[in-house]
Amino acid sequence: MGAITTPWGMDPNESLYQASLLTKLNFARSPAKFNPPITAVNPGETWMVVRPLQRGDYDKGFLQLLGQLTSVGNCTRKQFDERFTFMKDAGGYFVTVIEDTRSQKIIGSATLTVEQKFIHNCGLRGSLEDVVVDDTYRGKQLGKLIVVTVSLLAVVLGCYKVSLNCKDTLVAYYKTLGYVLEPGNSNCMNMRFDSS
Ligand SMILES: CC(C)(COP(=O)(O)OP(=O)(O)OC[C@H]1O[C@@H](n2cnc3c(N)ncnc32)[C@H](O)[C@@H]1OP(=O)(O)O)[C@@H](O)C(=O)NCCC(=O)NCCS
Repeated sequence: MGAITTPWGMDPNESLYQASLLTKLNFARSPAKFNPPITAVNPGETWMVVRPLQRGDYDKGFLQLLGQLTSVGNCTRKQFDERFTFMKDAGGYFVTVIEDTRSQKIIGSATLTVEQKFIHNCGLRGSLEDVVVDDTYRGKQLGKLIVVTVSLLAVVLGCYKVSLNCKDTLVAYYKTLGYVLEPGNSNCMNMRFDSS
């Protein structure tokens, strides 16, 4: 039997990156406090799975979840497939999600991007972006779980640092997860070109 494919000829279970990377994370390394203790491989509930983004997540509410964070616009299945393929082929994109397998809905997501540098001995620099938990699941440690997961993934991948930008109100939150404001070196500046 061949791989399961969708009517449009793609494998919905295709992962953006190697799922086995998530078995290598050392949660003891994180200053985050989990009560009860949970990890990416043992997220506390049998119905919950932490995994790489899959192609079929287009049909599992992934874009609708991102819509709780910011404007997503109209991303067609074709555009989603093409972007997924581009990210996978390029490497360096570690979009990580939490699925509620009972409803087959994506309920949390965070993205680690890994930039190849010449500096720092041809080092790798991580960026944490697009952190969101479905509003009906908030306050259950899932935000901490997804942020710590991708931050520890940056360690496994060999990044020398991982950075993020956030609202003032979330600085305290990220501090509890190991992120620090570096005095004199923490300004975030943007040049915006459109409204999206
Ligand atoms: C921020 C967000 C991801 C947190 O997810 P969550 O699953 O509710 O968070 P957790 O349950 O892991 O929260 C754990 C702790 O952080 C605190 N916390 C959660 N959201 C917070 C917020 N917005 N500001 C300050 N503290 C917050 C909780 O009080 C909790 O504290 P405790 O461990 O002492 O009880 C979620 O609120 C969200 O998706 N917000 C909208 C999108 C967004 O703003 N994303 C961040 C962009 S930088």
